[in-house]
Amino acid sequence: MKIFIDSADLGEIREAVAMGAVDGCTTNPSLIAKTGKSQREIVAQICEILDGPISAEVLSTKYDEMVVEGRALAKWHKNIVVKIPLIQDGLKAVRTLTQEGIKTNVTLCFSPTQALLAAKAGATYISPFVGRLDDAATEGMDLIEKIVRIYENYGYQTEVLVASVRHPVHVVQAAEIGAGACTIPFKVIQQLAYHPLTDSGLAKFLEDAKKTPKNG
Ligand code: G3P
Repeated sequence: MKIFIDSADLGEIREAVAMGAVDGCTTNPSLIAKTGKSQREIVAQICEILDGPISAEVLSTKYDEMVVEGRALAKWHKNIVVKIPLIQDGLKAVRTLTQEGIKTNVTLCFSPTQALLAAKAGATYISPFVGRLDDAATEGMDLIEKIVRIYENYGYQTEVLVASVRHPVHVVQAAEIGAGACTIPFKVIQQLAYHPLTDSGLAKFLEDAKKTPKNG
């Protein structure tokens, strides 16, 4: 399963890359806003840090403006994936940008029918938001299971990129279901590596090692 870091924080991205944990990065307007820098400045720096798909989101909501903005974003770097919200004009923009060879990540997906239309429009990635569905008392991972099954039934090439991930169990479930990718906040990436028994076992080893004569 591909792991993308869901962040625009350069320090977090550098650390995740150093761990060998990540294959790409997803950003969104809220993550960019936290940096206090322009989208172009931040995305350009991310492209220098990480050689993999980097999602940058359009702000337009009208078809023709989304296409113009998406073309411009794609020109920033060869690794840019244009993030498009799953609205009617967004699907039209995905179709046009796909026909022009521009990769797209369709975001804010909350239903199987939305994912079906994104695949038919030719989306490179679909980003179902599991955490936000959980927040609305709906089992977010059920949506992932449905989308993976629908895509397999018809051989759609769109890759399921599980998003709005809130804890390691989402990652385990995504991998068990067979989602192609997961985009994960840095805090959760750190949790993936952590287990209390590892830490306590290491402490015991180091404590016991103190009783061992030093190597000559
Ligand atoms: O990539 C989408 C992700 O950033 C949304 O996460 O936690 O705001 O639902 P969250």
